[in-house]
Amino acid sequence: MSIRSMGTVRSLTNPSAAPSLVPGAIAPPQPIALLRQRAWVELDLDALRHNVRQLKDWTGPGVDLMAVVKADAYGHGAIAIAQAARSAGADWLAVATIEEGGQLREAAIAQPDTAAALAQVPILVLGAIHTPDQVKALLHWRLQPTLCCPQQAALAAEVAESLGQRLPVHLKIDTGMSRLGVLWSEAPQLVRQVRSLRSLELASIYSHFATADEPDDATLRRQHRRFEMAIAQIRQDGHPLPPLHMANSAATLRDRALHYDRIRPGLCLYGLYPAPHLADTMPLRPVLSVRARITQIKTIPAGEGVSYGHRFTTDRPTRVATVGIGYADGVPRSLSGQIDVLWRGQRIRQIGTITMDQLMLDATAQPDLQPGDTVTLLGSDGGDRILAEDWADKLGTISWEILCSFRHRLPRLIQTP
Ligand SMILES: Cc1ncc(COP(=O)(O)O)c(C=O)c1O
Repeated sequence: MSIRSMGTVRSLTNPSAAPSLVPGAIAPPQPIALLRQRAWVELDLDALRHNVRQLKDWTGPGVDLMAVVKADAYGHGAIAIAQAARSAGADWLAVATIEEGGQLREAAIAQPDTAAALAQVPILVLGAIHTPDQVKALLHWRLQPTLCCPQQAALAAEVAESLGQRLPVHLKIDTGMSRLGVLWSEAPQLVRQVRSLRSLELASIYSHFATADEPDDATLRRQHRRFEMAIAQIRQDGHPLPPLHMANSAATLRDRALHYDRIRPGLCLYGLYPAPHLADTMPLRPVLSVRARITQIKTIPAGEGVSYGHRFTTDRPTRVATVGIGYADGVPRSLSGQIDVLWRGQRIRQIGTITMDQLMLDATAQPDLQPGDTVTLLGSDGGDRILAEDWADKLGTISWEILCSFRHRLPRLIQTP
């Protein structure tokens, strides 16, 4: 397996893109070698494509797949993920904000060789709109908004009309999440309004589940019934139905009756299961790995404190290995003393407080471990693996949050076979 850098990262370190400070004095660094010096995220896009195909096979023909790539594709990097998802058969993309959608459209212009597929793919913005400038930006980038209330519909229609444009819009029904969306009982009225506005085209009606990953399905069934009742009323009012969608990853795995015309998976695309009881549905492959290098190793005596606060004290001479990754890179500080890393298939325990850029290991049982060696924090190594959900379980949080924490600082490198 080899590694190549993603376009955005490469351009930051490309010597031809940035003049050196002292021309000719020192040879410019090789971008990839530099990126792999300390810590990095590796993306397995084959795994991503595999996951998309698994989901497509699962739903069967006639059901579109909308790949949820918001929050920089759950920390993986939206441009690379969106391209890969599209190449594996994703029909739509969903983002949270107009800016995220604009980034994908701009990538198609900036990287026509690799990101051309992002120029035309339909993109739904899941967040709400409030201002005329947002509607103009939607039209500029050909993004499709979510409408949640009569005011948003009126705003979208007025701006589109004033620019002589027709805007496809998606109506979101709140069936019990109590977040965005028109109340399910008021949805037929909003459909009537949208259909009366010539500059708007009703492109889909959707809702979102609050508890699809929980074993007890009572709330999910109640939300489903409310959606069905709203749709029945809309049909009874004589409106032709646009495509309908409700299913996030958990609902997709759990019940084909929830697929309607389109599924909207996020987490499953990235190779993780929303809950253990849904893990035997299809074989998914994690896309993201986090690796870092050992920067120093030394043996300290028994009775020495390790890291800030001395929350760990050695009880024997201890071979301490320092690793160049910390909480600013996305490793939660609250995992201090609770995780292992992998090295040649062995688990090495992390000790002491995780610091901003570094953390420490007890490598007493690994005398061959050397500075410069690579350890795996998340991902597979030598037949063992550590998943985001392992960290999430320890923290009482969810794997979605763990993945998103890697979107800030680490370079992202794409594995190539
Ligand atoms: C409206 C909407 N649809 C779909 C998804 C994808 O959810 P998941 O990652 O659980 O598949 C999300 C994510 O939060 C969402 O907000």
